[in-house]
Amino acid sequence: MPSRIVTLRVNDAERELIAKPSTTLLSALRESFGLMGAKRGCAQGGCGACTVLLDGRPVVSCLIPVVTVEGSTVRTVEGLADGDRLTDVQEAFVDHFATQCGFCTPGMIMSATALLDRNPNPAREDVTEAICGNVCRCTGYEPIVTAVLAAAERRRAAEGATELTEAEV
Ligand code: FES
Ligand code: FES
Repeated sequence: MPSRIVTLRVNDAERELIAKPSTTLLSALRESFGLMGAKRGCAQGGCGACTVLLDGRPVVSCLIPVVTVEGSTVRTVEGLADGDRLTDVQEAFVDHFATQCGFCTPGMIMSATALLDRNPNPAREDVTEAICGNVCRCTGYEPIVTAVLAAAERRRAAEGATELTEAEV
């Protein structure tokens, strides 16, 4: 199969590349678009370091031929913060020392973000299940789980405050 042009919406911008059938989404992000947040760990689907959101769902981008996701929406860790303003999940990772070498962190943050987007009130087991495909060799996972639970609490509090304000208007 020859190379072809693939168009994606990445972090709210239209992006295009010429891809071979074997070009992965991870390679497209890193080598064609210069987005180095998603990491290449095992390149076999086993470590989660390359996790990004594809149409809102967490996927291991090292296993996805980019030609198969033409027209999709992709969010990487670079597309989370609003300028200098980190997301609740990112802030909680900082506050709870949930990162050491940082190699797993972008993938962890994307998996945690996807969890909180679909379940703002996760139990501890929901968090461990959501990150079960993300390998961390440094932290022992405990600070990561604590950070995700803290982010969920922070998000619920913020949403509660917004509802209150709207009710007062
Ligand atoms: S690099 Fe994709 S799962 Fe390990
Ligand atoms: S912080 Fe080093 S692998 Fe997770």
